[in-house]
Amino acid sequence: NWTMENFIDMEVEKIQTKVGNKKVLCALSGGVDSSVVAALIHKAIGDQLTCIFVDHGLLRKNEADLVMETFKGKFHMNIIKVDAQDRFLSKLKGVSDPEQKRKIIGNEFIYVFDDEADKLKDIEFLAQGTLYTDIVESGTETAQTIKSHHNVGGLPEDMQFELIEPLNTLFKDEVRALGAELGVPDDIVWRQPFPGPGLGIRVLGEISEEKIEIVRESDAILREEIKNAGLDRDIWQYFTVLPDIRSVGVMGDARTYDYTIGIRAVTSIDGMTSDWARIPWDVLEKISTRIVNEVEHINRVVYDITSKPPATIEWE
Ligand code: XMP
Repeated sequence: NWTMENFIDMEVEKIQTKVGNKKVLCALSGGVDSSVVAALIHKAIGDQLTCIFVDHGLLRKNEADLVMETFKGKFHMNIIKVDAQDRFLSKLKGVSDPEQKRKIIGNEFIYVFDDEADKLKDIEFLAQGTLYTDIVESGTETAQTIKSHHNVGGLPEDMQFELIEPLNTLFKDEVRALGAELGVPDDIVWRQPFPGPGLGIRVLGEISEEKIEIVRESDAILREEIKNAGLDRDIWQYFTVLPDIRSVGVMGDARTYDYTIGIRAVTSIDGMTSDWARIPWDVLEKISTRIVNEVEHINRVVYDITSKPPATIEWE
């Protein structure tokens, strides 16, 4: 009979048999899939696993710390954190086209990962958090021309590693259950989907450090208030975006001319279609007030009330 404990025991044994005394590499993004695959493989082979975690400077507030505290602090994994903010930001300078931004971030991720992997010796295997649905969907990627969906962790096929994909018979909800069983914290197991290019596609148009910071701070406030209101598991995705517009406001008795923050929150089954979330007005009011008061250069907050289609979930 199929139970989660049986599954873990079986997979641990399979991984041990396959790997022997060799070494495994894993690209850890802090997302559900790569986190659970890392935890499972670590349970099987401990120190023979090395994880590379690339901080591209486009992560959400406290995200890098949570990943390090969890996997280094709690699990005591071998994990290399690469601070590559400058590399990504300089490559993105002057670029405003969304697809171009995706391409640059996706490619740069591979270069950074490659550079780190080259420094390690005798790695034979690469672990990936491929799910059952990833395999099924890759046969029918017709809609992907809308956005190229560069997924951080999507690595080049010419790498000299043998793949280990222990989640490839599982659905998302099973991966969450597996993660919980392995002791991966709720904040990671229940994490909302977060795109590979991160905040890079939530600053619309050209990216600057200041704009990333505005999105990061406003997003942190939104997440905190959604959690306080107990809505975090009901809403598929919720985040803020920074459109490239400024408008007039008044603060005290002075005129301001500053940026607008957009709030996006949607309900969905699979991200293919979505409806805008009916967040209670008092919760929205609190979020709006806090963002304007606490985030510099924001004098206006708007709520996106379009479904997908015709809009998409992300604004880029
Ligand atoms: P859209 O905006 O196309 O998003 O309605 C559907 C889902 O995909 C996520 N998304 C991405 N994920 N790389 C990713 O890994 C990307 O480039 C990307 N673009 C969108 C989006 O967050 C939503 O969950």
